[in-house]
Amino acid sequence: MRPTCRPPGPPLPVSLDPAARSAVPSVHAAPAEPERARTGPEVVAHRGASGDSPENTLAAVDEALRQRADTIEIDVRRTADGHLVVLHDSTLTRTTDVERVFPGRAPDPVGTFTLAELKRLDAGSWFGPAFAGEPVPTLAEVVAHTGDRAGLLVELKDTAHYPGIEQEVAAVLGAPRAGVAVQSFDHDTMRRFAEAAPDVPAGWLFDDRPGRARLDEAAAAGAHQITPGVEGTDASLVAAVRIRGMETGVYTVNTGSDMRRLRDTGVDRIITDHPGRLRAVLDG
Ligand code: G3P
Ligand code: CA
Repeated sequence: MRPTCRPPGPPLPVSLDPAARSAVPSVHAAPAEPERARTGPEVVAHRGASGDSPENTLAAVDEALRQRADTIEIDVRRTADGHLVVLHDSTLTRTTDVERVFPGRAPDPVGTFTLAELKRLDAGSWFGPAFAGEPVPTLAEVVAHTGDRAGLLVELKDTAHYPGIEQEVAAVLGAPRAGVAVQSFDHDTMRRFAEAAPDVPAGWLFDDRPGRARLDEAAAAGAHQITPGVEGTDASLVAAVRIRGMETGVYTVNTGSDMRRLRDTGVDRIITDHPGRLRAVLDG
């Protein structure tokens, strides 16, 4: 059972005036995940526990579990031969030894490599020698490895390069289960994902603070999660999201002071490179 930092009960007070409330589309009769007790924000490990292990690897999943994360956030792309793989960047240069293994191809996009080629890469040594040989995992491998030990928050990256990836991700995730959601900065992608998998919570990521119009648009499109960055999130945004029947996440929250501030907004999930640090804040 996760610790309580806010007592279970009704949603936080909402600051919208009656006119604004009446203008809000009532697309969700129930919360996105009604079975999850709201005893505090969900601890989400950003790319796994990426502060202490190489991001988007099974080692980062293991470290996130060790640090008591509720959920693992990962980024998904597609190989040249159609496999879904877990990588953040559009190229392999930052997080693998692609320059050594494939000289001359280092600047090439992830989607120009086959899965067999990606499996020749070391995605751990760049972070530290203790992780030498850590492979690039497929989405299916992360799903199987994580099992029911944590939720998964799957981000679809640069989807214009991967047409049809929404249906493919839905197929790999399989039957909806608590704690598994899909998100993207590309909101058209999330509309398509909601059609492909209407029972899997859909998250809309924002670079900045979404205003009323964009919240209304997201709610009308069936979004379950609104997730802006640290600076764009406060208690009034959390309330505006909640009155529209959605949940609020926030990325990427790494300092203790930001963790405490955002905990106190009533946000539903906090995405961090340091899940253990966040857990300690929530336990305190
Ligand atoms: O989960 C949201 C966050 O991961 C978005 O930013 O660049 O780390 O994928 P990025
Ligand atoms: Ca991400």
